[in-house]
Amino acid sequence: MTEDNGIALFTPTRIGAIEVANRIAMAPLTRSRAGMDGVHTPLAIEYYRQRASAGLIITEATNISQQGRGYAYTPGIYTDAHVAAWRAVTEAVHDAGGKIVCQLWHVGRMSHTSLQESGVAPVAPSAIQAGDEVFTLEGQVRPSMPRALETNEISGIIEDYRNATRKAREAGFDGVEVHAANSYLLDQFLRDSTNKRTDGYGGSIRNRARLTIEVVEAVSAVWSPDRVGIRLSPITRAVGETPLDSDPIATYGYLAQELGSFRLAYLHCVEGQTRGVNGAADFDFQALHRSFGGHYIANNSYDRARAIAAVESGYADMIAFGRPFIGNPDLVERLALDVPLFDAPPESYYGGGAEGYTDFKPWTADVQPLVSVEIDEKLDIALDDSFPASDPPSMSEPAGRA
Ligand SMILES: Cc1cc2nc3c(=O)[nH]c(=O)nc-3n(C[C@H](O)[C@H](O)[C@H](O)COP(=O)(O)O)c2cc1C
Repeated sequence: MTEDNGIALFTPTRIGAIEVANRIAMAPLTRSRAGMDGVHTPLAIEYYRQRASAGLIITEATNISQQGRGYAYTPGIYTDAHVAAWRAVTEAVHDAGGKIVCQLWHVGRMSHTSLQESGVAPVAPSAIQAGDEVFTLEGQVRPSMPRALETNEISGIIEDYRNATRKAREAGFDGVEVHAANSYLLDQFLRDSTNKRTDGYGGSIRNRARLTIEVVEAVSAVWSPDRVGIRLSPITRAVGETPLDSDPIATYGYLAQELGSFRLAYLHCVEGQTRGVNGAADFDFQALHRSFGGHYIANNSYDRARAIAAVESGYADMIAFGRPFIGNPDLVERLALDVPLFDAPPESYYGGGAEGYTDFKPWTADVQPLVSVEIDEKLDIALDDSFPASDPPSMSEPAGRA
């Protein structure tokens, strides 16, 4: 159990309709250990159960359709078999006192014909091939040349989001997170570098934001807005050298303001180059949060001191940790006790079985913390640090994809 050490990061709150035990979220982490049918094995039950002391678990990105899949061994949430497998996960997390939302994913152009039904081309706002890599049964390959979506196909994609949300509800999740970050389909529509359309979904900021807003509207109507979060990454290249939007402040500012009117559970931002330097000094995430108006989850290279300061100062309602949750299933307890974290090897991130997935050990009570400074003293130090800082400690860079 988490110690009651008087630090807000470790205290309960409510995020939309979801009561959370602390302000620490587990960021979405693709681990590529599901079957090729997108059905999780029982290993995923154990993996998520081990991490249930997070206030909120955001699942790995989960495909809303086969068309939306871009990486081998990623899970889905569009068939009854997916629902049954995820239900076992949500029950395990709930039995352990945790909360869990499902991250809804459509990769757009970040896919390969071998992962698509009947080997067809992946879809995108415009026929512009990504230069990065996706993971197929043949290993890492360049994404295939995508086909630009016809205007009349877009309602079908929105329907896939609706279906996935219904399935997530059936599977016992506490909510869904719309993945509009990291240069996947919704982000490809948002950015003028990947969206060259001339219909109502391209051109002006309003048009480029239209699909994300229509998806959020559809998903909120199927469930309830206070069960729906959204993830954005305004200045993230994410995979390889994906170009940014030419005016991220205007584009994402408009979107955040529009999203604010839905009264969603939260806005979750990757602040900077994902897994790299926290870019909160280069982009005004506070202004984005203000435009949105609701709860805010901050992510990207946070450590204990910065997380404590961000919540204490009111900068964020929750902090999402990604890589630290891979090697530290009991991350919340470790942060509360201020004991060392284990840095999981990047080779363990994607693919394989239990090794590097469910075999990381929790901190045990019989091992003494190496750091024995008084909590209050550390809190003072953390709050004295200027926040947001521009140069957090770097972590080992993983190979592979986001
Ligand atoms: C192995 C791995 C898998 C990831 N998978 C996803 C994902 O499925 N969806 C997503 O939005 N971000 C994904 N990310 C990005 C993380 O959620 C997070 O933004 C990033 O790791 C920065 O946070 P951190 O510094 O706390 O690790 C992934 C990152 C890693 C390292």
